[in-house]
Amino acid sequence: MTQGPSTDRGERSYHEPVLASEVAEVFKPLPVGVVVDATFGGGGHTRRLMDEMREGTRFIGIDRDPDALAHSDLAGHPDVTVLQGNFADLGRLLDEAGVPAPVGVLFDLGVSSHQLDEAGRGFSYHREGPIDMRMGPDAELSAAEIVNRWDRGELAAVIRRYGEERYANRIADAIVANRPIETTTQLAEVVAQAVPAAARRKGHPARRTFQALRIAVNQELEALRSGLDQAIEVLAPGGRCAVISYHSLEDRIVKRRFALGAGGCVCPPDLPVCVCGEAAELRILTRRPIEPSPEEIERNPRARSARLRAAEKLERRAS
Ligand SMILES: C[S@@+](CC[C@H](N)C(=O)[O-])C[C@H]1O[C@@H](n2cnc3c(N)ncnc32)[C@H](O)[C@@H]1O
Repeated sequence: MTQGPSTDRGERSYHEPVLASEVAEVFKPLPVGVVVDATFGGGGHTRRLMDEMREGTRFIGIDRDPDALAHSDLAGHPDVTVLQGNFADLGRLLDEAGVPAPVGVLFDLGVSSHQLDEAGRGFSYHREGPIDMRMGPDAELSAAEIVNRWDRGELAAVIRRYGEERYANRIADAIVANRPIETTTQLAEVVAQAVPAAARRKGHPARRTFQALRIAVNQELEALRSGLDQAIEVLAPGGRCAVISYHSLEDRIVKRRFALGAGGCVCPPDLPVCVCGEAAELRILTRRPIEPSPEEIERNPRARSARLRAAEKLERRAS
């Protein structure tokens, strides 16, 4: 878990932005316009982009978590507008706020260090708290409901699918046998006891299960698919979209969406001739995902699994 550097006020920072220089490199060539930080968090990336992009650039910060926006000292800045909402509704949020086509959209997925550090949010297997994991008020169910109410088969399926956890069946059995499970640390212990000893040596044994529950509670993959589609749709021609993902399920969605956009024709492969008339809508800027340097990982271990992909929107032409 990240323990960010101290701020000028001597407090621990809200969140240290990951791959910040690399993100700035993607956005620096853009003309003056609007940049959307769709996962505003502590505003770390926005702050860095304000320093590095052309004067006159305006920033829209979106976060699902009202607590993130309430903590930000950028909220009252004349160049920054913050909007509370889910980036799955990106198009509507920007439309309602009267925002013109942005020149840049950034997604820095997952949870912030601040959210992880707040035991009461229930995201951390290291900190005792309720099993909540809701990123914002729009999430309908808490992780406790999944853990204590879902039947064994559904539970195992979620842990397998969203945690890519090979011991999903054993973990689901153990959870059901130990109900009710009240706290994050109790849950972490139940999971740790369910996996074979050898698996306990490879990182924390509850990491994958907690990831799975968080993804399910917040419908993170659905939000990513929808948010990415809308970002590409609303971007101005020549505008850029950058996404930092933290696990393979997210990265695969981003990689495929960018590849689809760069590939032109979207007809089903079994059609003998193209009927869609679509030209490529994107140019991929990162053939391979950009990874953090060893120095960044040393400074900020949370950056370890980060992968940055970026693409540029092309003028649409009928083929
Ligand atoms: C990794 S943090 C971003 C940190 C930020 N880049 C910074 O430098 O401070 C991810 C943030 O995105 C928010 N978030 C995650 N999924 C979201 C969604 N679907 N819609 C809006 N915000 C989301 C989380 O609440 C969290 O504050």
